[in-house]
Amino acid sequence: KSMDEQMLIIFGASGDLTKRKLIPALYDLYKGDFLPENFVVLGTSRSDLTDDDFRNRVVFNSEFLKDEAENSDATKAEFAKKLFYKDLGDGYDTDFTPLKERIHELNSKFKINHNFVFYFSLPPSIYETVAKNLAAVDLSVEGVGWKRLIVEKPFGYSLETAKELNIGLQKYFRESQIYRIDHYLGKETVQNLLVTRFSNTVFEPLWNRNYIRHVEITNAESVGVGNRGGYYDKSGALRDMFQNHLMQIVSIVAMEPPISDDPEEIRNEKVKALKSLRIMDDEETLFNHTIRGQYTSAIINGETVKGYREEEGVDPASTTETFAAIKFYIDNWRWKDVPFYVRTAKRMPTKVTEIVIHFKPSHHHIFKDQDFDTDNKLIIRIQPDEGILMKFGVKVPGQGFNVERANMDFYYSDLEEGNNIMEAYERLLLDAMQGDATLYARADEVEAAWAFVDPILKYWNESKSAIVHGYSAGVWGPLHADDLIEGRGFWRNPCKN
Ligand code: BG6
Repeated sequence: KSMDEQMLIIFGASGDLTKRKLIPALYDLYKGDFLPENFVVLGTSRSDLTDDDFRNRVVFNSEFLKDEAENSDATKAEFAKKLFYKDLGDGYDTDFTPLKERIHELNSKFKINHNFVFYFSLPPSIYETVAKNLAAVDLSVEGVGWKRLIVEKPFGYSLETAKELNIGLQKYFRESQIYRIDHYLGKETVQNLLVTRFSNTVFEPLWNRNYIRHVEITNAESVGVGNRGGYYDKSGALRDMFQNHLMQIVSIVAMEPPISDDPEEIRNEKVKALKSLRIMDDEETLFNHTIRGQYTSAIINGETVKGYREEEGVDPASTTETFAAIKFYIDNWRWKDVPFYVRTAKRMPTKVTEIVIHFKPSHHHIFKDQDFDTDNKLIIRIQPDEGILMKFGVKVPGQGFNVERANMDFYYSDLEEGNNIMEAYERLLLDAMQGDATLYARADEVEAAWAFVDPILKYWNESKSAIVHGYSAGVWGPLHADDLIEGRGFWRNPCKN
């Protein structure tokens, strides 16, 4: 797709995200020749930096801008010429006229045509203020040039705050101008889910309650909360991963086929799936279908790993979950009575995200030795070892009819392009710059996901029956989590096969 001349204005440009993700993604886009000739980045924040300070920080002295190429110094220098900086003086709640003047100066100099993308790498508590101040100096108005706004998660802290945030932004920008970034949607394998489902004839006819026994989704990280204890303790696994990234995955697994690949058609179907989630609002269901846990100290590979409550920034009496496992249903024609089991956690044995579609056993078992384990499973590996695996039964050679599991698999690394997968931020920035919102979360999607998550959080916070289970760092979560999936085997502990 072609791309208009444009300026990317990053708010919070002295922060970590700009250095760690945004600039490296832009650099790769630059090297890949995806950026238009007339393109500039204007960083802004409260820090008093010059253009050169900013360039040094995010390009020349940045440990995140890796480039092994021989002429990388020259490439970096060329790229850095596109970067500028303007400080905001006292803060974000201020008159944006000086900022606007700098934007207009660069706009004329580089013939940008008033096409602006504003990127809020800021705490959501000030989104509305910044949007208001942009609007006050007419920077949100389209007409001569388009204006887009990219916002980072978290999109609210609860359903109510998410709604407030949406209303706050929509006072100044139309919904079609707002791009809510969820980096999981930038992952190649998440996008491939759409292609797997809707470009093949073999999966879709089976993709329903008639053939699927249950759906299992695991998101595991081996790391703990690291230096983000302060943030994480107010958030927890449900807000940090489940409400956004995992609900996005669920919506793509569960959605009906859209009529086209138009962004609104795809997002309409996703939101329909999210609105069909069966809300759990009685204590008994919440007790039986939700499990939370917290990692405790352990020795891993000879090293002592801190327990969650000992982490820096974490309240020593914290009940914030680092493990969450939820069983739920989707009340629609396709999924009626098919349980979904979704878990996410820190300090697991490994880092892996995968979706497992467990098909029903064959209707009539004629081979006596066939066991549950040989039922068909489709495993979609989001990361690492990105790919797809189909498990099916084959005859063990020799006498009789013994059935054994075999794999049919596809790994991205087998493709020539597969070792060059575009980084999530790169793909997402490119899409927003081209005006494609398919891989961005719409307000109603975010709210539908919150409507499901809210009662769980409320139950965990308020009910005495909501226990926080401990699990040693480095294991697959609390033992109790197996009760959730009882009668359906166990959680699949993902490994390469
Ligand atoms: C972020 C969460 O959104 O996603 C982090 O805030 C988490 O806690 C991260 O570690 C995981 O992303 P990825 O791409 O490494 O799976």
